[in-house]
Amino acid sequence: MKHVIVGASGQVGGYLLQELVSRGEQVQGTCLTHSVPGLRPLDMGDADRVSALLAEEQPDVVWIPAAMPDVDRCEREPELSWRLNVEAPELVATMAAERHAKVVFFSTDYVFDGTNGPYSEADRVNAVQVYGRHKVETEQFLLDTIPRALIIRPAWIYSRDENPRNFVYRVVQQLQSGNTVKAVTDQWNTPTPSEGLGKIAWQAVADDFEGILHVVGPERLTRYDLTVRIATAFGFSPAQVDPATTDSFHLDAARPLKGGLVTACPEYRMEAGRDFAPIF
Ligand SMILES: NC(=O)c1ccc[n+]([C@@H]2O[C@H](COP(=O)([O-])OP(=O)(O)OC[C@H]3O[C@@H](n4cnc5c(N)ncnc54)[C@H](OP(=O)(O)O)[C@@H]3O)[C@@H](O)[C@H]2O)c1
Repeated sequence: MKHVIVGASGQVGGYLLQELVSRGEQVQGTCLTHSVPGLRPLDMGDADRVSALLAEEQPDVVWIPAAMPDVDRCEREPELSWRLNVEAPELVATMAAERHAKVVFFSTDYVFDGTNGPYSEADRVNAVQVYGRHKVETEQFLLDTIPRALIIRPAWIYSRDENPRNFVYRVVQQLQSGNTVKAVTDQWNTPTPSEGLGKIAWQAVADDFEGILHVVGPERLTRYDLTVRIATAFGFSPAQVDPATTDSFHLDAARPLKGGLVTACPEYRMEAGRDFAPIF
């Protein structure tokens, strides 16, 4: 199959690209502010350029990990969030569907309020911040108007990459500098390795799965526990991780606390060793 990945310079897009290339698929990825050799620059809000790219590449599958995932910035700049998390992905999805390509959109666990997670695909959404509400809006548009659309919800993505966008890398950098890392004990989630996300997402597309699919790591833990695990795995003392509460960060956007996702589809449950090599 032929694939276009809009946002292949990001954490998720980069792993998708690797996964598809390793399977011998034909892939063209795009980037915006982070140039990567082989990727084509594309602003997904530019209808003429999106149209030209799709006409040229004739993809069977269009993946849309591109987004504005900075939750606090979305809260401060809701118009920009709407353009990047709603208007632009809807434009790309509509143009892709007109060409009969399968659309794969990346949503988030933040569509839920975090009062009683973990949540399955059948649970009712109730986002508590702008970012989550915008993802809900796009999900609904895709479900209503795009045939065969696949909506993947991951949560707290991490990887091995030496990239400031990667939580593991940021923690290790802080610890290496001799700093302590503050991590919250009151947010639970299901951290998702990009490697496993790429593999399961590929499988779902190969199966032509439609609708919403939760693709997450196999464990549910707090941000504090996750950070202690990372510290220990990289040879640092757990004492370098300071427990804190979400309130103490005075963030712009509310966070789901008792969050995390599970999938009701056993064939897409992620397994350590089989789907990803554990880091911690
Ligand atoms: N990270 C998480 O923990 C997490 C958790 C749940 C869900 N998600 C969702 O998963 C998806 C991928 O997240 P991520 O962590 O991979 O994000 P990321 O690393 O920030 O990557 C975002 C990608 O979008 C591209 N992009 C941004 N604005 C664009 C525009 N106007 N036109 C075209 N491309 C644009 C970026 O390109 P440049 O970098 O080249 O500018 C980059 O390739 C997002 O939809 C996010 O909401 C993420």
